[in-house]
Amino acid sequence: MNATADQVSALPPVPEAEPGSAGAPCAYAALRTERSITRVRLPGGQPVWLVSRYADVREALAHPGLVRPVIATWPPQDAEPWPRQVLTLLELRGDSHKRVRGAVAPAFTPRRMEALAPRIRAVANELIDELLREGPPGDLIAGFTEPFPLRVLCEFLGVDHTECAAFTEHTETVLDATRVPLERTLRALDALRDFAADLVDECQRGRGHGLLGQLARAPQGEGGLGRDDLISVTISMLIAGYKTNVQHFGSALPTLLERPWLVNRLRARPDQIPDAVEELLRHVPLMNAVIVLVATEDLDLGGRHIREGEAVMPVIASANRDGGTFAQADEFDPERTPNPHLTFGRGPHYCPGGHLTRMQLRIALETLLTRLPGLRPHTAVNRLEWDEDAPLRAPLRLPVRWDQRPPGLRDEDGARP
Ligand code: HEM
Repeated sequence: MNATADQVSALPPVPEAEPGSAGAPCAYAALRTERSITRVRLPGGQPVWLVSRYADVREALAHPGLVRPVIATWPPQDAEPWPRQVLTLLELRGDSHKRVRGAVAPAFTPRRMEALAPRIRAVANELIDELLREGPPGDLIAGFTEPFPLRVLCEFLGVDHTECAAFTEHTETVLDATRVPLERTLRALDALRDFAADLVDECQRGRGHGLLGQLARAPQGEGGLGRDDLISVTISMLIAGYKTNVQHFGSALPTLLERPWLVNRLRARPDQIPDAVEELLRHVPLMNAVIVLVATEDLDLGGRHIREGEAVMPVIASANRDGGTFAQADEFDPERTPNPHLTFGRGPHYCPGGHLTRMQLRIALETLLTRLPGLRPHTAVNRLEWDEDAPLRAPLRLPVRWDQRPPGLRDEDGARP
């Protein structure tokens, strides 16, 4: 469709997240009822096909005729393409993508994740020690949901967490790509490449640990990766591997804390935490209009004809609330089974970090509930101030209280897992 500027400006805007929420569930409910696939305009003025029903989002994510564009080629620019030697996993396609994914996949299995669990638990306990020293009250965003996923990712990759300021500024610029000038995004990608290259060189000299050390030691050619591949993996993990969790966990905790019956139940029955985690992954409407796919051919999707070159945005947050797939989809049901949410995507680019995310959420909840007895909001959850500008939203602060132990009773006297 070669829409004129007037036709594009007449399109409705992409739904904005509702204030105080990670997403736009009401607007998507209307779209799912009227027409699953509809043309909208992004804030930058680009027309896209927004996909809202579960079955269509599921199909779009794994459709062979829809690819993730290389950063800097979408939205189309007049400027000369910026030279880039290394692409991220999301930008790689076909056999190159399959080869790199195949090499990293064994590191993400549930069994490998469980081997990491004691370290992750130790990080959670260190952060709670700090909260206990200073509170109550305490802020769970600054004190827990911000630092925890970053520390977990550093443990997993084998990066010294005291050095993370060297990359967080750049990863956050890349994640903000729809709102910052393209040149800034590309400079941030270059800075990440330089940071990753130094790290990979250290690992190849035998000084690495974690995932990167392990990948660097695997002989190249026998499933092992070359230097550029390792840099690509490092950049991809830094960009995709902590901010999603920071924002998801920050938005998930109010859902939990405003249900004291659930907090009490999960504290008494930690075996029910994994199902509650799965439902938090479905219910928090985090993955809004953030995934862009471009059609490499004319194709039909959900009864719409999509032309080659047109952009399609499958909205996972909407699919996860589709009443055709999930009974009482807007309700938070911590016992929901089955729970076939699409939070981690689908198809060749589905998220490799699903098990790591599940495990860190489980450990975080077990630790918070055990070590902060009587954990409750200090400010009413519906009066929290949210970061309304970020593409993935979360509360800016989450003030909480908890019951202090009687003097003389040490934390270790029965509370610590
Ligand atoms: C709440 C947490 C997370 C959510 C909601 C999430 C969601 C997603 C989704 C939907 C995709 C697919 C995007 C697409 O199809 O275009 C994806 C890809 C990816 N995710 Fe995650 N993710 C999370 C955590 C993580 C973690 C912890 C890691 C790594 C440690 C990670 C690493 C990646 C990578 C590397 C990709 C690209 C994979 C590829 O292109 O083959 N993610 N993620």
